[in-house]
Amino acid sequence: MKLANKAAVVTGAGAGIGQAVALLFASEGAHVFALDIDEAGLKETEAKAPYGAKLSVMVVDVTKEETMRDALEAAAAQAGRLDILVNSAGIRVAGTVEETREDDWDRAIAINLRSVFLGCKYAVPLMKRHGGGVIINVASVAGMVGVKNRAAYSASKAGVIGLTKAMAVDHAADGIRVNCICPGPDDGPWLEEALEGSSGRNQALRPAAVQRVGRLGTLQEIAHAALYLAQDESASVHGTTLVIDGGYTAQ
Ligand SMILES: NC(=O)c1ccc[n+]([C@@H]2O[C@H](COP(=O)([O-])OP(=O)(O)OC[C@H]3O[C@@H](n4cnc5c(N)ncnc54)[C@H](O)[C@@H]3O)[C@@H](O)[C@H]2O)c1
Repeated sequence: MKLANKAAVVTGAGAGIGQAVALLFASEGAHVFALDIDEAGLKETEAKAPYGAKLSVMVVDVTKEETMRDALEAAAAQAGRLDILVNSAGIRVAGTVEETREDDWDRAIAINLRSVFLGCKYAVPLMKRHGGGVIINVASVAGMVGVKNRAAYSASKAGVIGLTKAMAVDHAADGIRVNCICPGPDDGPWLEEALEGSSGRNQALRPAAVQRVGRLGTLQEIAHAALYLAQDESASVHGTTLVIDGGYTAQ
């Protein structure tokens, strides 16, 4: 058990990457607090949890400051500590700057970036009580390189990478390691939705999305990267962006 006696909060744990991380961390012995706005998704996560796993679900809107603070404090109170925070909740917003409506821009920044700020803001003091912890932010290759029709999304993810580095500098002395993961497109519903679009125009991106290793990544591969960052074996990995994209950004 790689995470025995650790307490972990995972946002966006009702689906996709967050769910895969929550289940893997629980199977490695962590007490996992799975946060999501989608109650049905959380029920699915609960149902998939391995027998005997410690997994508590909380319906939380990650963009709401008080709700996030209360959820993190409740998790730490229940487990007696907070060791790990994985910020995975996120949404896709498609469009160039010309096409992106102001409210879609605000939604992308709120769910993809503000939520990470809020999670970190309230996790840091809880982790400091026990001499430190690990924060893993799920960004995207879209925060590193240009991806077509993803203006707001790319901006939000570049923000997550910047926040990760700033926090790595600020909180090293607190014993808090802060890293981010940059997945490329995975084989989940995101890619199909992105490629189909309303007009089908994004189909031209399909060959570029297929990664250089000849297949798309899997949720399990991303979850295992998060597990590596959460473990003491990665103790000197700090402020980095761990890219899991099958070589998508290599060229
Ligand atoms: N899947 C990919 O191809 C891919 C690639 C790069 C980056 N990412 C990033 O990984 C993260 C997870 O993506 P995913 O593929 O698992 O997506 P997903 O849609 O499968 O899961 C996202 C989860 O976030 C939750 N969520 C959305 N808004 C919320 C809110 N306001 N409060 C609480 N929960 C909320 C959703 O309910 C959902 O369960 C995102 O940040 C995404 O940008 C995904």
